[in-house]
Amino acid sequence: MKNILVTGGAGFIGSNFIKYALQNTGFNLVNFDKLTYAGNLENLTDIEFNDRYKFVKGDICEKDEVEKAVHENEIDTIINFAAESHVDRSILGAKEFINTNVMGTHVLLEVLKDHKLEKYLQVSTDEVYGSLPEDKKEILFTESTPITTNSPYSASKASADLLCNAFHHTFGLPILITRCSNNYGPYQFPEKLIPLMIAKTLNGEKLPVYGDGKNVRDWLYVEDHCSAIIKVLSDGRSGEVYNIGGNNEWYNIDIVKLILKKLGKTDDMIQYVKDRPGHDRRYAIDSSKIADELGWKPAYDFETGITLTVEWYLKNEEWWKKVMSGEYQKYYSENYRDKIS
Ligand code: NAD
Ligand code: DAU
Repeated sequence: MKNILVTGGAGFIGSNFIKYALQNTGFNLVNFDKLTYAGNLENLTDIEFNDRYKFVKGDICEKDEVEKAVHENEIDTIINFAAESHVDRSILGAKEFINTNVMGTHVLLEVLKDHKLEKYLQVSTDEVYGSLPEDKKEILFTESTPITTNSPYSASKASADLLCNAFHHTFGLPILITRCSNNYGPYQFPEKLIPLMIAKTLNGEKLPVYGDGKNVRDWLYVEDHCSAIIKVLSDGRSGEVYNIGGNNEWYNIDIVKLILKKLGKTDDMIQYVKDRPGHDRRYAIDSSKIADELGWKPAYDFETGITLTVEWYLKNEEWWKKVMSGEYQKYYSENYRDKIS
């Protein structure tokens, strides 16, 4: 394993992964990204001239584009981060989610088969397991929790996982799947909870909390997700699923209050808005399989991770202000128009 095609490498986790892998492995990395609204090459300016890094603009739904990148760069491994990743956008329209997340994954699996590549890792999500009861804190998602999808986004991610499973079993292909909980950290697009709330606080705007604010998410610092992916890629067993999580459950409202406190603001900036349709109540990951089998554990506790994150957004105002202008503004007014009464 030496030449890796990192699809979706210009997005939040993909760009963090490229930097982490350049520092911590000897792999050559080809970032293959369509540059949708979520893809931003400014995330990678500090490493763009690294000898072991290259960017190729391309769409995972186009087999000839993927094959060209694989052929020209002697690719032996694919890590698939490329996706439409935002649940609210999938509620406004599911088509692009089905195209990229399902059809695009199928294209990558065909390339894996036709070109007899060494390995494929599918970056999936804990959302494929549905929602957990909030009053039974002892119940967590394990790798054998049944797939139950509640949003078009999670349905598209689960469909991709099922294809991966089928291609492993039918064709004996070397496929690994990771399912991670909610990530946070630098370069996260400010449409997701934590960066949105930081940006809005800094802009002096109201913070829109869905429903009663008591939905629970299990937060993991992005660099810990990257280290887990490297572990699974190197030592994981083909055909297996590995959950990745921070054992770090928070009510949304408490996250929002924590951000306000860290930025020296008060809770009167919070605005409760209409709930997300089909909103999953609680996610929580049991990551004992990756811990016991591969010896992975997170390096960052939440206090450290959230402090680093808030500081990063404070220092990088130009990055998120640029990102929030233009196309993003159109999405914002469309998504929140019917939520705010
Ligand atoms: P993101 O939206 O920030 O980035 C997605 C990237 O994929 C962008 O650079 C975009 O340009 C690219 N892309 C989209 N469609 C493409 C296509 N057809 N061809 C090539 N590139 C395309 O997403 P993220 O938050 O970095 O998530 C990355 C992956 O991790 C996704 O598969 C997501 O489902 C999964 N995941 C995310 C989280 C999270 O908390 N963000 C948690 C678990 C799993
Ligand atoms: O669990 C992993 C998943 O985490 C990933 O697969 C997805 O790609 C990623 O987007 C994330 O999904 P969520 O829906 O959990 O993340 P989001 O940041 O959109 O929302 C987190 C919680 O905050 C959720 O309960 C909805 C709530 N929320 C979100 C926004 C954007 C609000 O209350 N207000 C908001 O404005």
